[in-house]
Amino acid sequence: MAALRVVVAGSGRTLLNSSKTVHVSRAGMSFSSLPQGRKVVLSTLGLLTAGGAGLALMLHQSVKASDLELHPLVPVESRGPDVFSGPRQGLGLINLPVFPVSIRRGYQVYKQVCSACHSMEYLAFRNLVGVSHTEAEVKTLAEEIEVVDGPDDTGEMFTRPGKLSDYFPKPYPNSEAARVANNGALPPDLSYIVNARHGGEDYVFSLLTGYCEPPAGVDVREGLYYNPYFPGQAIGMAPPIYNEVLEYDDGTPATMSQVAKDVCTFLRWAAEPEHDQRKRMGLKLLLGAGILFPLVYYMKRHRWSVLKSRKIAYRPPK
Ligand code: HEC
Repeated sequence: MAALRVVVAGSGRTLLNSSKTVHVSRAGMSFSSLPQGRKVVLSTLGLLTAGGAGLALMLHQSVKASDLELHPLVPVESRGPDVFSGPRQGLGLINLPVFPVSIRRGYQVYKQVCSACHSMEYLAFRNLVGVSHTEAEVKTLAEEIEVVDGPDDTGEMFTRPGKLSDYFPKPYPNSEAARVANNGALPPDLSYIVNARHGGEDYVFSLLTGYCEPPAGVDVREGLYYNPYFPGQAIGMAPPIYNEVLEYDDGTPATMSQVAKDVCTFLRWAAEPEHDQRKRMGLKLLLGAGILFPLVYYMKRHRWSVLKSRKIAYRPPK
C-alpha cells in the first residue's frame, strides 16, 4: 500500500485545497512499466497476429466463390427524378402539391398485374387516401371488391362491398393454394418486400427487368425462368411485365422500365410510408444537435475544469 497526496495546483478553489491522504492499491501494471525485452516480444507478437489475420482475410476473399448473382445496378435516369436514396431524396410526399404520380401509377400496376399472384395483406384502402388518391377515389376502388362479413342477426355470413377500412384482397385463400397455382413456388406477400430483400427496390427493379436467355451450357428446369438477379438464377415467376403490359390512366407511355420503376416506387412507399417524414425529422434533428452539442461540450469542459487542472503528486512517506 502506498499513500498518495492530492495537491491542487493553480486556482485556489476551496473544493480540494486541503491536502488529503488517499490509499491506492498497487494494481494495474501498464505496458510502459514492462522491461524492454518484454516490450519487444509483445510488440512483435502483436504485429505478427495482425499481419496473419490480414493475410488470412485476403486469401479468404480471393478464393471465396462470391458474385454468383448480379448485383442490382440501376441507372438513375431510368427511374426519373424522384429516386429516394440519399438523405434529402423522398417519394415526393411532402413538397409536391399534387399526389405523387409514380405511387399512383405503381398502384395501378400492382392492381392490374401483380395482384393476380401476390397479396399485400398489410395495406388497407384507407392507406391510399391523401397519398395517391382522394378519399372519393379510394371509396370507389374499395367498393369494387366483395368482402365476407358477419355474422348477421341470423348467424349467417354475408358479402358486402369493400370499405375504406378493408385490407387489399388476397389472390389465394392460403399459401398451399398459391403454391399449387404457381408450380410449387410461393409468391411472397409484397407489403414489405423491398425491406425484405437485399438491395431493396433496386433489386426488385433489376429482377423485374432482368429476365434474359440463359447463357450457353446453363439449363433451366421446366416451369422456371432464368434471371441473373435472382439468387440461384432460376425463378418460379414468369416475366410479369413487358412494354405495354397495361395502359396507364394518366397516359404515360407504359414502357417496361417505366412500369418497373412505378411499381417499385409504390412498393417502397408501402414498406415505409413514413419515409419522407423520417428524413425530414432526421434533418431537423441534425440541425438541433448541431447547436446543442457544442453547448453541451462547452458546459462539460467548464464543469470538469477543476478536476482536469488538478495535479496529483506522490510524496513517499518519511
Ligand atoms: C403469375 C403470377 C405472378 C405475377 C403476375 C407476379 N408474380 Fe412475382 N412471383 C411469383 C412467384 C410464383 C414468385 C416466387 C418465385 C420463386 O420463389 O421462385 C414470385 C416472386 C416475386 C418476388 C420475390 C423474389 C425474391 O427475391 O424472392 C418479387 C419481388 C416479385 N415476385 C414481384 C412481383 C411484381 C412487382 C409483380 C408485378 C409487376 C409480380 N411479381 C407479378 C408469381 C407472380
